[in-house]
Amino acid sequence: MLRRLHHTQPDSFAFTPMNQKWAAGQITKYPEGRQASAVIPLLWRAQEQEGWISKPALEVVADMLGMAYIRVLEVATFYFMFQLKPIGSVAHIQVCGTTSCMICGAEDLIGVCKDKIAKNAHAISADGKFSWEEVECLGACANAPMVQIGKDFYEDLTTERFAEIIEEFAAGNVPTPGPQNGRFAAEPLGGATSLTEWEKNREDYNGSVARAVELGDTVKRIQGDEVPILTPWVSDGTKPKKPVAKKAAKTAVGSAGKKAAVVAAQSKAKPKPTKAGAPNIAAKAAPASVSAEKKPRTMTAARKSGADDLKLISGVGPKLEAVLNELGFYHFDQIAKWTEAEVSWVDARLKFKGRIERDGWIDQATTLAAGGGTALSKKASK
Ligand code: FES
Repeated sequence: MLRRLHHTQPDSFAFTPMNQKWAAGQITKYPEGRQASAVIPLLWRAQEQEGWISKPALEVVADMLGMAYIRVLEVATFYFMFQLKPIGSVAHIQVCGTTSCMICGAEDLIGVCKDKIAKNAHAISADGKFSWEEVECLGACANAPMVQIGKDFYEDLTTERFAEIIEEFAAGNVPTPGPQNGRFAAEPLGGATSLTEWEKNREDYNGSVARAVELGDTVKRIQGDEVPILTPWVSDGTKPKKPVAKKAAKTAVGSAGKKAAVVAAQSKAKPKPTKAGAPNIAAKAAPASVSAEKKPRTMTAARKSGADDLKLISGVGPKLEAVLNELGFYHFDQIAKWTEAEVSWVDARLKFKGRIERDGWIDQATTLAAGGGTALSKKASK
């Protein structure tokens, strides 16, 4: 398969401040002169943040590591895990098409992708929410057929269940990953034939699913605030925070059943946009606005007191701040007042559609305009 950079590229790329810090921590893992060893983690984090690897992202990573652009391009084009084209705003679906899955119905699952997403792999659905591709064995052959959605596996699928899962994502929910036919893990379909005592005492989820529920990052774009939860072993000079999701999810997994665990993980694991200013799965996966565009009130210049630092809104970097200023937005209270139709207007003028909604700009701007702090502004003021 020919892998090359996408024909349409954004003007720039910047890691969020926390991802930048995380990346700096990664580089310190390697001895002087060997910084290039951090190329894969840094590219991966760029993809976790944006969904795909753009040329500017590749160049930023190369500059950070002192590498020639062509060397980083070689890595990004060699490994299929790197997406070189924009993906769906909600999820990119990878359907395993290798032997076990193929025998058990992978082609039918691909048919669902063609029906519900787009006729061709790597094309984005009409609503912008999904994209798909066929991939080689993902190592869950005993639970064939299966797909990977974002970071997690959905196994033992039927076409009906797979179609439902896509609809659930489209509606802003995150279905519980793992076997979809009631199996716990990869035991025989008819139930365990040995170690049957274990079956009686088992938890609601197998280890992979419990961890997925605990983290709640199945289709989340990573901003960096999640670092202590996701990679507590990384040293970037800051003390790891206590994982917020662990206790709640564990309790739910152990006692209250599947549904409670999902609710607990989704409500506890994800930062609340109004307070933390960080996106969550529901916000990211919420249906895109379908309202007509309406131009918000703009200003020709900032007020005499000076423009607000719009970069305190998570998801707004120097480039986007400049674009917003150019459009006539200088203050948090302007952004806080955007209606749905006005968001559509602004969205259409930014490079990445859905970003405002996904990153919860309005909630963050409302908090900042009222003199409150978001997770990002609090960190910036330290
Ligand atoms: S063949 Fe599909 S996971 Fe291995």
